[in-house]
Amino acid sequence: MISTAAAPAVIRPGASGLTTRPLGPGDQAEVVAMHERCSMASRRLRYFSAKPKLPQRLFDVFCDRSRGLSLAVDDESGRVIALGHMMYDGASGAAELAFLVEDAWQNRGIGRRLTELLVELGRAEGLAELRASVFSENARMRKLLTALGGRTRRTEDPAVLEIVLDLRGAEAAAA
Ligand SMILES: CC(C)(COP(=O)(O)OP(=O)(O)OC[C@H]1O[C@@H](n2cnc3c(N)ncnc32)[C@H](O)[C@@H]1OP(=O)(O)O)[C@@H](O)C(=O)NCCC(=O)NCCS
Repeated sequence: MISTAAAPAVIRPGASGLTTRPLGPGDQAEVVAMHERCSMASRRLRYFSAKPKLPQRLFDVFCDRSRGLSLAVDDESGRVIALGHMMYDGASGAAELAFLVEDAWQNRGIGRRLTELLVELGRAEGLAELRASVFSENARMRKLLTALGGRTRRTEDPAVLEIVLDLRGAEAAAA
């Protein structure tokens, strides 16, 4: 059974002035605004469609702790500038990872730090593996996940790859 213990309230992602914390229902306006600041290209890489507006239903899923854990990164002014998700895949002991870092904040190590945090938290929750569906053209996301030990699998869609991080394997390797 997967534990749904709350994540630590505040985590420093290693970029100065930024705070990482669990996403909550009160963040909706900030998250909608963050999506509006993102380029169409970034939204497409994240959602596999340009998604001009974040649907309410999806935001509710992000905040539903029984379905996963979403982390928000705030800048110094409290504006949400990145999101990282670990959404449980039924009773399989696996979860799906997904990220959106606002364009102006990309390439500063935030995606990497969010991934490392979710790997730590997923392991603490007893998950066996984390998976991410990634466009094959998404070199940055592929590099980030393979650098952390992710294995790449083909999917039925030639444009999409699945990258799998084995948390038990990583734990064994670290022991
Ligand atoms: C993909 C994404 C989450 C990465 O987050 P980020 O904060 O921009 O990335 P980071 O700064 O942590 O860099 C991650 C790695 O990618 C590398 N990288 C950066 N640009 C790259 C490129 N064009 N090609 C290959 N690697 C690249 C960096 O060197 C870094 O590796 P390192 O830590 O070994 O130096 C972010 O760019 C994003 O939200 N993109 C749009 C949405 C998306 O693609 N989501 C992922 C699908 S779920």
